[in-house]
Amino acid sequence: MLKIIQERRSHFLKEFNGQKASDSLIHNLLNAAVWAPSHKLTLPFRFVVYGPENLELFSTQIVQSYSERNPDPKQEKIQKMQSFPDKLSHVIAIVLQPSQKVPLWEEYACLGAAVQNMYLSISQEENFGAYWTTGNEIDSPQMRENLKLSPDEIHCGYFFIGGIDLKRTQAVRPEPKVEWLY
Ligand SMILES: Cc1cc2nc3c(=O)[nH]c(=O)nc-3n(C[C@H](O)[C@H](O)[C@H](O)COP(=O)(O)O)c2cc1C
Repeated sequence: MLKIIQERRSHFLKEFNGQKASDSLIHNLLNAAVWAPSHKLTLPFRFVVYGPENLELFSTQIVQSYSERNPDPKQEKIQKMQSFPDKLSHVIAIVLQPSQKVPLWEEYACLGAAVQNMYLSISQEENFGAYWTTGNEIDSPQMRENLKLSPDEIHCGYFFIGGIDLKRTQAVRPEPKVEWLY
């Protein structure tokens, strides 16, 4: 198990080759998410999936939001956003739905575990990778409207999924900070 955890990696936009994943792969990720530990089983999240045929729409929405909020938009950023349909396979927008039954921090903790489950699932795929992005206009008024968020919901980023040629597994982590008490 530790090996699976250690070899889970984020794969980023520049590594994505434009290959499109099957819907069943995406369903597997979403099904893994609901196995997160969850106090009172609130499972306080929902997802909005942009499939390959909706990536142009996603790209247009993000560019629109960015341009509206930045009077002097950076061309480089816009070009990156316009490359999404060619690079990405699917985008899963991650939405926190606070239940009010447990403290908010517990809801965020559960959401983090849910995304980790998606990460671990896609790590088992040879030709696909993903990363959690909290950039790209998250929670902007425009994206809130596009995702049809209710006022109490919080947009917590996206899981960007793409085909990859090379699966990376190596990384470095420090020793855990622990004090043992006997
Ligand atoms: C809550 C959260 C938000 C993140 N947001 C971004 C982001 O906006 N852009 C990005 O490139 N990576 C983002 N990441 C991914 C980290 O960059 C990545 O986990 C880190 O580089 C460690 O690499 P690893 O996931 O391969 O271990 C995010 C990760 C988490 C947990």
